[in-house]
Amino acid sequence: MNILVTGGAGYIGSHTLVTLIEAGHTPIVVDSLHNSSRVSLERVAQITGVQPNFYQLDIRDKAALSEIFSQHAIDAVIHFAGLKAVGESSVKPLLYYQNNLDSTLILLEVMQAHGVKKLVFSSSATVYGSAPIPYTESSPAGQGITNPYGQTKYIIECILRDVAASDDSLEFTALRYFNPIGAHSSGLIGEDPSGIPNNLMPYIAQVAVGVRDTLGVFGDDYDTTDGTGVRDYIHVDDLAEGHVAALTHSKPGFRAINLGSGNGTSVLELVHAFERASGRAIPYTILPRRAGDLPEFYADATIASQALNWHSSRTIDDACRDTWNWQSKNPQGYN
Ligand code: NAD
Ligand code: UD1
Repeated sequence: MNILVTGGAGYIGSHTLVTLIEAGHTPIVVDSLHNSSRVSLERVAQITGVQPNFYQLDIRDKAALSEIFSQHAIDAVIHFAGLKAVGESSVKPLLYYQNNLDSTLILLEVMQAHGVKKLVFSSSATVYGSAPIPYTESSPAGQGITNPYGQTKYIIECILRDVAASDDSLEFTALRYFNPIGAHSSGLIGEDPSGIPNNLMPYIAQVAVGVRDTLGVFGDDYDTTDGTGVRDYIHVDDLAEGHVAALTHSKPGFRAINLGSGNGTSVLELVHAFERASGRAIPYTILPRRAGDLPEFYADATIASQALNWHSSRTIDDACRDTWNWQSKNPQGYN
């Protein structure tokens, strides 16, 4: 299939391009490069031997996006494009609502105009707010979301549900990612955050490689196994395979599906796994809890297994090994 991939130069997008190409699909990438580098696409070509079609474009440019749909017979869309920095979203809420909502509305209008029916959207476990764990797809969503970034994910899911309900031929899947980590086993592509990483894994990796001195652990007094926060980390290549499965098993209507491993790992467990994988010590200090953080959450991944025939197969140790391989080969990321 010809798959339009918005945000395809980014972290999850670039890994998904490799998986799509290996599954025999033809990706057409549209990315503004606001938070990514063209080098990721060159690396995808190095891994797969296929140079993806690429358009540098803000997808809110409706005329230009429409032109791409006219030039390629698009069968389906995977929509990764969006701004994702939780802290920044509270400082610049209009930027986040504008970018994430407008880009999705315009994409849906252009898809409709060109008769494209299948969409896979990057949602997040953040939509569950403070629901009881494990999160199942029937857990309440949209309550207790603590930041505008998370709100955009929930609002986009509502939009997709409403649009799908208006036309039975539409096939929309929102994949609710838990915490993506890891890198392609080649070490050629990986996560390359700009500035100080907000998320745990890239921070650990930068400490291991010597870019940063010490990890700050946000709280060791939660009611968890060792007092530190517990999350469901999922290897980015498992996530990438989840997107191909979502296209393969696409069906009419709107569905929201968790992509997680179903297991919880604490901050200190991840730190120690990374120390084993890298052979480097990760110095850390305990800091106060980070505002807005939940103590513990992980997925119930049963629906993904039943509806998509997908489950995660890579371990935390695999993810640490692959992140270290990427980070040690690319200490400054793509630059
Ligand atoms: P990323 O920032 O690496 O990739 C997003 C890409 O979208 C970037 O390349 C950026 O340049 C592009 N982009 C943003 N706005 C655009 C626009 N208007 N037009 C064209 N391109 C635009 O992020 P990622 O980690 O690969 O995440 C991909 C998607 O998954 C995002 O929607 C994110 O919110 C969602 N998600 C990510 C995580 C995570 O932890 N990484 C967790 C849950 C959900
Ligand atoms: C964060 C976002 C969430 C987003 C997700 C994407 C917040 C409040 N939530 O979730 O909306 O969907 O990223 O993956 O930012 N930690 C440290 N030190 C650090 C960084 C993190 O101890 O330097 C801890 C956190 O307190 C948490 C765990 O590590 O317990 C994971 O943090 P992080 O990677 O930021 O992910 P989430 O908090 O789950």
